[in-house]
Amino acid sequence: MRRICLLGTGLIGGFYTESLHGQRSRDKVTVAYSRSAERAQSFASKWNIPRATTNLQEAVEGSDSDVVIVALPNHLHEEAVLAAAAAGKAVLCTKPLGRTAAEALRMLEACEQSGVFHGYLEDLCYTPKTLKALSSVREGTLGKVLWVRSRECHSGPHSAWFWNVAESGGGAIVDLGCHCIEIARNFIGKDVKPVEVMCWGDTQVHPIEAEDHAIGLVKYENGAIGQFEVSWAFRGGMDLRDEVCGTEGTIWLNHWLRTGFDMYTGVSQNGYVAEKADGNTGWLFPVGDEAKALGYPDMFADMFAALEGGTAPMETFYDGYVVNALIDAAYSSIRTKQWAPVNLPLWRGAASSPEAKASHDFDAEHQLLKQELLPDGRSKVILRHKQTGKIVQRVG
Ligand SMILES: NC(=O)c1ccc[n+]([C@@H]2O[C@H](COP(=O)([O-])OP(=O)(O)OC[C@H]3O[C@@H](n4cnc5c(N)ncnc54)[C@H](O)[C@@H]3O)[C@@H](O)[C@H]2O)c1
Repeated sequence: MRRICLLGTGLIGGFYTESLHGQRSRDKVTVAYSRSAERAQSFASKWNIPRATTNLQEAVEGSDSDVVIVALPNHLHEEAVLAAAAAGKAVLCTKPLGRTAAEALRMLEACEQSGVFHGYLEDLCYTPKTLKALSSVREGTLGKVLWVRSRECHSGPHSAWFWNVAESGGGAIVDLGCHCIEIARNFIGKDVKPVEVMCWGDTQVHPIEAEDHAIGLVKYENGAIGQFEVSWAFRGGMDLRDEVCGTEGTIWLNHWLRTGFDMYTGVSQNGYVAEKADGNTGWLFPVGDEAKALGYPDMFADMFAALEGGTAPMETFYDGYVVNALIDAAYSSIRTKQWAPVNLPLWRGAASSPEAKASHDFDAEHQLLKQELLPDGRSKVILRHKQTGKIVQRVG
């Protein structure tokens, strides 16, 4: 059994505890830290947690835990991670790792210098659909991955600190884009270096300093493109979708609004429907097991198996740092309206990657551009001559 010190008892602290304590789990939260004594106590009572405290240092250093989970607002991640590393405890931190890559890098270095285990709690890379899709892609089912589009949109976060750029580090890009960026990176290959980012971001609805809507492109060294689309101004629930396009195939994933559970009610669902649902009458899209659909149980299973097996989990602080570097580049691109280079002072992937682009030979002289069976039953090929570049079609 792992004994866990949970820092933060808000929305994600609740999801984490539900996932950790659910399904007869061996791992238990043994101490919960919150700013307010009342909240700490009520959270501890709800989840049967032996100790509740309002003292972060005391929570981290106590002998009643061996793993620290950071579930605090973004501006408190670094302080909490450094405290865990100093206490010599394994530390798992929610997303985004830092508000900037510099912050994230300091967290990674503190853990590596102390020799403590670190895991980046990027749950959306662990959804059951994503894990299966990743294994198909890694087996080559889609050929070479050319383009990954990942989208997370909803009507905005649930706590004041998200909307304050000093505390959050940014708007929808920091909050939601971190997921999309890392999903694309997993499909394209973590070894492939991201080189530049082009991003549009604006505040379309909310009077805040940060962006409530953004679309970005991450260009990888092998020519593959990761596209992220994020919004805090989207109506209709939480839109969580991914698309992977390869030379030999395509995957579409829909994690939230179309999970195969559609319900109509004219008299309203009494209360909660699903996270960030935008209404409770008419057609509703509840989610059977929210924690599972969002990846939390598989994420913790990987984290604890790696901790006990002496290996690294699928998502580490190094990954969190790379994601932060891509976010930094996205903000730079918004400011300059240009492609922004990705600044990665620490890069542990491949020094160079072969091009993801692919072309098919038709015969010794030609490359095949397109082959299609026409409605009248004839077959057509469109060919490019390798030497002259001339494009012709042949109908058979
Ligand atoms: N899918 C995910 O992985 C996911 C989802 C939601 C949130 N998060 C992340 O989890 C973290 C917390 O988000 P949340 O949604 O739980 O937020 P929240 O506002 O619901 O809860 C934050 C918790 O931190 C405490 N807190 C707030 N300000 C504090 C302060 N100044 N000092 C000490 N404690 C303070 C609150 O009391 C609360 O317990 C953020 O980094 C967020 O990005 C991750």
